[in-house]
Amino acid sequence: ATRKIAVLVGSLRKESYTRKVAKNLMQLAPPTLDMEFVEIGQLPLYNQDDDANPPPVYTEFRNRIRSFDGVLFCTPEYNRSVPGVLKNAIDVASRPYGQSAWDGKPCGVVSVSPGAIGGFGANHHLRQSLVFLNMPCLQGPEAYVGGIAGKLNGDTLTDDSTRDFLKGYIDAFATWIERNVQ
Ligand code: FNR
Repeated sequence: ATRKIAVLVGSLRKESYTRKVAKNLMQLAPPTLDMEFVEIGQLPLYNQDDDANPPPVYTEFRNRIRSFDGVLFCTPEYNRSVPGVLKNAIDVASRPYGQSAWDGKPCGVVSVSPGAIGGFGANHHLRQSLVFLNMPCLQGPEAYVGGIAGKLNGDTLTDDSTRDFLKGYIDAFATWIERNVQ
């Protein structure tokens, strides 16, 4: 069966390295995965006062997330943590209480950075939220994509070992989704 996967990118930057890595992952994915970007930059900052009367973009986003079988989070690292824009999207779809759109959806985390640590801090801070959200997350292989600035030409990955790694990652992700899909 084909599984629908939401791809969330934690950067709004037009030339985002993280988005480029996500695009490469989507191209490398096996045909059993139908992967789609879900944009998050249009979501206003979450305010619990809005739970009773949510802005239409919140409802649209929550329903959109519900329509997927799984989620791939691709994130840069901001100050050793998850960029606010991604955390905001996670918070928005987690509410109102008891109606989280994320509940039970299998997922994976890929962090990307020009730095050597590959966004480790963001990757693991994100995992902390995924535990609470009851999202079974692929544990291994882990994906900390470092030194990314020197590994792309436009949108294309020029580094063979990174491409091989990402291929292995997305295949393992597909297996994980198949095992954990609801
Ligand atoms: C960064 N950057 C960064 N990099 C990193 O490896 N660890 C970090 O903690 C931070 N902190 C940080 C904070 C803020 C506010 C910004 C704007 C940037 C650098 C970051 O990795 C770099 O800008 C990437 O290019 C961001 O990812 P995208 O937008 O290219 O996907």
